[in-house]
Amino acid sequence: MSFYKTVVRPLLFRVDPERMHDMTVGLSKWAGKAALMRLVMLRAYAYRDPVLECEVARMHFANPVGLAAGWDKSGVAIAGAGCLGFGFYEIGSISADPSSGNPRPRIFRLPEDRALIVHYGLQNDGAETIAPRIARGPRPVPLGVNIVKTNRGIDAPPDTDDAIYDDYLRTTRLVKDHADYLVYNLSCPNTEMGRDFFAEPGGIRGLLERLQSEELRCPVFLKVSPLGGSKALDRMLKEVDGHAFVSGFMLNLPPGKQVPLETPAHQWRDLPGAISGKPVEGLINEQLSELYRLMDKKRYHIIAAGGIFSAEDAYRKIRLGASAVQLLTALVYEGPGIVARINRGLCRLLQRDGFASVTDAVGEDHATS
Ligand SMILES: Cc1cc2nc3c(=O)[nH]c(=O)nc-3n(C[C@H](O)[C@H](O)[C@H](O)COP(=O)(O)O)c2cc1C
Repeated sequence: MSFYKTVVRPLLFRVDPERMHDMTVGLSKWAGKAALMRLVMLRAYAYRDPVLECEVARMHFANPVGLAAGWDKSGVAIAGAGCLGFGFYEIGSISADPSSGNPRPRIFRLPEDRALIVHYGLQNDGAETIAPRIARGPRPVPLGVNIVKTNRGIDAPPDTDDAIYDDYLRTTRLVKDHADYLVYNLSCPNTEMGRDFFAEPGGIRGLLERLQSEELRCPVFLKVSPLGGSKALDRMLKEVDGHAFVSGFMLNLPPGKQVPLETPAHQWRDLPGAISGKPVEGLINEQLSELYRLMDKKRYHIIAAGGIFSAEDAYRKIRLGASAVQLLTALVYEGPGIVARINRGLCRLLQRDGFASVTDAVGEDHATS
């Protein structure tokens, strides 16, 4: 048992989850202000080994374990939390206009399941505030910016197709020169807008056609739903085909409570939101494997998140087809030491199986099955 789990976590878990989240982001923001503090954090948390270095869609990562979108929603803590040993760091989702997200409470812990119920609803400071912030700040590791349409709340009138696309474009123009990669979140499980726009035929193609003229120089990923199996993936791949600036994919959380839970139903039945963490791992791994099987492997890369708590979990996703992985929920349950532990374990697993690098192991389960 780590110090974090025996001493720190019980104290933190007494605090309301959103307050605790804000406090830890605030602490990282504060720690990132001093160069000495950043150095101390790097020494304490970063684990380096040449075996872990990887090239993903023209980017170089010192290791394949990144921070997933949703922790640093408005890019305030990049300098500090970027020193926790991650190979890359994703902020957002951010939208063209600021959004206060869904009503509180909007995040809940399910410790028995090592899961969270997430219902933030895309709260962020808005691209006009965030773009200058990320342009001027130090960036310890490659930075991803995750873009979504502004959540205007449950009472807002439905947006037209053009308004949806325009929202993505406005953010793109503001941030595209300050990101190492962009992610288009096309599947947030938690907005109240009631319309799964990008699941409708032509929805993705429409966005990509508009992005085509933006001359995006950094790699672009699409974060899509993990539901729908090969049919949904096949349709998505067809819509993306012909848009050479798309470098790959990520899989989002499934909406609602579609995964088996240990926690008694009366504790979560009435809570709004989607499940993250361990319970979604199986479902996401299935869709990851299917996506890897269907996609053009020379062209696309997958960055996969969902229930990674150990080196074995990360390694499984890599062998199923992920070029790199991300985590968020494990940071809450295991503390920041989790990143180095996963990287150390990955070195051991790669060595055990005779791989000279992470990249050599990508999709290996498909080669042997
Ligand atoms: C508190 C929280 C907030 C999240 N917010 C976002 C978000 O704004 N945009 C997004 O693309 N994904 C968001 N996600 C999804 C994560 O990026 C990730 O895909 C998912 O949680 C699976 O990883 P995990 O099981 O390691 O948490 C959020 C997840 C959590 C737990």
